[in-house]
Amino acid sequence: MTIQADDDIELLDLMLTDQARCGERYGATARWDGYSRIFADFLRDVGLRDFRKHSHPKGSPGYVLHSFGAVDGLSAGTDIWKVYGTAANAFVPAGARTIDQLAVSRVGNPNGFEVQGRFYTLSWLNFFHRYAYVSKYFDFNGDNVIVELGSGSGKQAELLRKAHPHSTIVLFDLPTQLYVANQYLTKVFEDDHGVVPYQVAREFTSLDDVVRGKINVLGNWQFDMLQGRDIDLFWNAASLQEMAPDTAKHYLRVTSSVRHMFLMHMLRSEPDMGVPGRRKVIGSKAMAGFDEIDRTHARHCNNRDWPYYDSFWKRSDL
Ligand SMILES: C[S@@+](CC[C@H](N)C(=O)[O-])C[C@H]1O[C@@H](n2cnc3c(N)ncnc32)[C@H](O)[C@@H]1O
Repeated sequence: MTIQADDDIELLDLMLTDQARCGERYGATARWDGYSRIFADFLRDVGLRDFRKHSHPKGSPGYVLHSFGAVDGLSAGTDIWKVYGTAANAFVPAGARTIDQLAVSRVGNPNGFEVQGRFYTLSWLNFFHRYAYVSKYFDFNGDNVIVELGSGSGKQAELLRKAHPHSTIVLFDLPTQLYVANQYLTKVFEDDHGVVPYQVAREFTSLDDVVRGKINVLGNWQFDMLQGRDIDLFWNAASLQEMAPDTAKHYLRVTSSVRHMFLMHMLRSEPDMGVPGRRKVIGSKAMAGFDEIDRTHARHCNNRDWPYYDSFWKRSDL
């Protein structure tokens, strides 16, 4: 059965207005600003119907959905058993969930496949690999507060909540992407009221306002409420690198008291660089006070040359 995320243009406009009121500090780069304008129009005109299904040509308004991982593609010729088998064989410690315990929702009509009646998509397997990586260093079974910045369409949060329903998850993102995640996750967790939607969370001024054991959806312009807070895990995937360095540094200053960080970032060699690798703010002075516990080539279920690295960081005084 196809289940759709609901359109709510009033909410989209509310998010855009709230962000505009909050000044420049967390402003997006020109690229994401440009995306925001064309994507807001796309959301008004076309809406969220089948948003995970359709492939959109590069440069078209709908292509923005691809840029933050919202489309679940399945290219012809994909060896489903191989990619599923890799996830099924990924190491996870006792207490963490395995892929056979974690199916993805069909909200938004994604392209996927079934294994023994459970539904999966390729994109979901990638989010699982990130979770499996982090579970080697972080015990998800406590009453943890997990903050994700740049949460995209919300699938990582879906997986974390399905794996560890007692966790408190707090999402921050730019308005148009946040809108998609809000509408998607609200539908996925409709039955157990698992999401505190933006309409409620926009009033939060402190981390103490966040509702425990739920996914809380907040605008990136509310991020300063985390200053000085002892959060269990800060999560950022393919996102800090997309920001102006000063913006990324500001986020890292605000999160300087968190206990652990998972940062998935692009590291690639460039011909004019003296040393291989490009880490932007990660690994520079901005990470003072943290020890990098591990850095490993990130697993992508069907792209071996993916130039991303998983990294796990722990506050040095712990
Ligand atoms: C490439 S997407 C990655 C999305 C998701 N983390 C994933 O791995 O699929 C980059 C994300 O960073 C967010 N982002 C870009 N600039 C940002 C900024 N200045 N503040 C907060 N989020 C930002 C985008 O909105 C988007 O959700």
